[in-house]
Amino acid sequence: MVHWGKENVILVKPDASFAAEIRSYREEMLLAGSSMDGTGALRRTEEPLEWLKHNALMENPKLVPENKVPATQFVLTDTDTGRIYGMLQVRHELNEYLQKFAGHIGYSVRPTERRKGYAKKMLKMALQYCKETLGLQRVMVSCLVENEASRRTILSCGGVFEEKVYEHVEHVWLEKYWITL
Ligand SMILES: CC(C)(COP(=O)(O)OP(=O)(O)OC[C@H]1O[C@@H](n2cnc3c(N)ncnc32)[C@H](O)[C@@H]1OP(=O)(O)O)[C@@H](O)C(=O)NCCC(=O)NCCS
Repeated sequence: MVHWGKENVILVKPDASFAAEIRSYREEMLLAGSSMDGTGALRRTEEPLEWLKHNALMENPKLVPENKVPATQFVLTDTDTGRIYGMLQVRHELNEYLQKFAGHIGYSVRPTERRKGYAKKMLKMALQYCKETLGLQRVMVSCLVENEASRRTILSCGGVFEEKVYEHVEHVWLEKYWITL
């Protein structure tokens, strides 16, 4: 298992041992009507093992669908309890859509665990992965203009504002930030 973080809260690539927690995370997010950023296909995938299979496909450059780039799915978990606090996805490179809008990294924290610093912790660990494992020199992260929590998370990790862009599919304004690693 790949993981980052020295304390009991670490970022790991989930496996089948997380099945119950993946289900619980999904249910909590859906019930709260939360945006499921950084969870890959979790919204439309009720069965955790199916979701894990899909993640493996997405990570493999030979198997990833043609219009997608390889991506790694992580969960932020507590090694003492096994609880999943957050989820984060790292896109290994940018295609045209990601470059314009969504960036390298998406993330979310389950509603009952918000405002405890987990998003900041998770993004910091992901940046380390981007630098050390993927060899990236800088990453792009974006957030909705009205998403104060995400903006603050990005700024706390050294994000430098680039521009505001309008995304025509979801009809939303986004702020784009770059973080030098
Ligand atoms: C955005 C999100 C990941 C933040 O998670 P979190 O664990 O609560 O964030 P943290 O506790 O690490 O806090 C990060 C910063 O945001 C601030 N913050 C957190 N929630 C906030 C809120 N509701 N309103 C304003 N600021 C907030 C914190 O004070 C902190 O800023 P500071 O360091 O300047 O004090 C979480 O709200 C979420 O999952 N939202 C839905 C999905 C989403 O929007 N993902 C981001 C996509 S770009």
